[in-house]
Amino acid sequence: MNVLLIGSGGREHALAWKLAQSPALTTLYAAPGNPGIAQHATIAAIDPSDHRGIIDFCLRNSIELVVIGPEAPLVDGLADNLRTMKIAVFGPDAKAAQLEGSKGFTKDLCKRAKIPTARYARVTSRDGALAALGDFGLPVVIKADGLAAGKGVTIATTREEAEGALDGMFGKTGGDAVIEEFLEGEEASLFVLTDGTAIIPFGSAQDHKRVGDGDTGPNTGGMGAYSPARVLNPALEQRAIDEIIAPTVRAMAAAGMPFSGVLYAGLMLTADGPKLIEYNARFGDPECQVLMMRLDSDLLPIMLATARGTLADCPAPVFSDDVALTVVMAARGYPGTPVSGGTIGGINAAEALGARVFQAGTKALGETLVASGGRVLAVTARGESVQAAQTLAYRAIDAIDFPDGFCRRDIGWREIAREPG
Ligand code: AMP
Ligand code: GLY
Repeated sequence: MNVLLIGSGGREHALAWKLAQSPALTTLYAAPGNPGIAQHATIAAIDPSDHRGIIDFCLRNSIELVVIGPEAPLVDGLADNLRTMKIAVFGPDAKAAQLEGSKGFTKDLCKRAKIPTARYARVTSRDGALAALGDFGLPVVIKADGLAAGKGVTIATTREEAEGALDGMFGKTGGDAVIEEFLEGEEASLFVLTDGTAIIPFGSAQDHKRVGDGDTGPNTGGMGAYSPARVLNPALEQRAIDEIIAPTVRAMAAAGMPFSGVLYAGLMLTADGPKLIEYNARFGDPECQVLMMRLDSDLLPIMLATARGTLADCPAPVFSDDVALTVVMAARGYPGTPVSGGTIGGINAAEALGARVFQAGTKALGETLVASGGRVLAVTARGESVQAAQTLAYRAIDAIDFPDGFCRRDIGWREIAREPG
């Protein structure tokens, strides 16, 4: 079977690496891909926003499944257009992708379906927002409504800070925002596959969103992750599925916008149980890298069953008991303006140690690999414990020669502190 993978990041490199191992695969294509993805796929130089170009490519190359990695093409309706042409797609259509694309949509759905989440107010003007602020204590959380690549959230500890964030939001263009109660607890990510009806748990992970060691500095798209997140123990995971995921999947189907694809729930494990922080309509990046490192099953039939609506007949996926841990190497300046063009060497040396280096923001300049984005590499390792996986990941990091890059040195710290020494 021929498969087309959409995207160009570390998440898509991990998906390409895993899909390429499937005995059911004939040819894997990727658009637009990157040099790491090109090791496993034939690159098609098509922009994912060119829906007609993607459809033409699918028809000319007998593509039987399209896997959409990032959120932007989902929110933009690429899956809808492919389905109209009877091409199977892994990923939700635009209406269902609102679970990620609009925080207000998701909060309203939670309210209707009685899904545990932070108390909130939707606001559409600065004056309305200032009035609503009075209903919340401090700290208070302020979120822009739409896609913001992890940068649309302010946790304000003073009223002035909250007003500043609202000024920033309504000052320029107006728009929508959500004000919500601050939740206390530890965060964990839960992934499930769903075809709109059946739900299959697909692993857990813990991300590290802040740029600096000890969870300091500005938010990023994610500087590292490990899987499984043991803090989300089996009892809590079941509660999250019963109280959060299943009611969401039912409510979406009942509203005539069934969600098909991977649903990624960002959870806060509070003293009252798991509460939903946010949904994403796709795999996390870099969480996908650690999930793929642990997945022993063939990914292709599972994705195909999700796309075709036959997930209920699909055997449960098998994940290794090993821990996988990934450390992101970013270009200096990230999450501000990253330095681009820095040369990258040592990937083979890092992989010879037993790690796997997924490429995110890279490009080939002749024989030289150079940085071309904020997050550049995701150096990923497996081990019997978080400590063991972390040790191997950092040995591999030290084998990489990327003078313009940096990484956090403490990925996995929460769980390592809990592991028996
Ligand atoms: P989001 O983009 O909604 O995932 O928010 C980004 C980050 O802000 C989350 O990963 C949390 O660390 C934090 N956050 C968001 N909402 C809340 C909340 N209600 N309470 C505490 N922290 C939050
Ligand atoms: N790593 C966070 C995300 O993919 O949204």
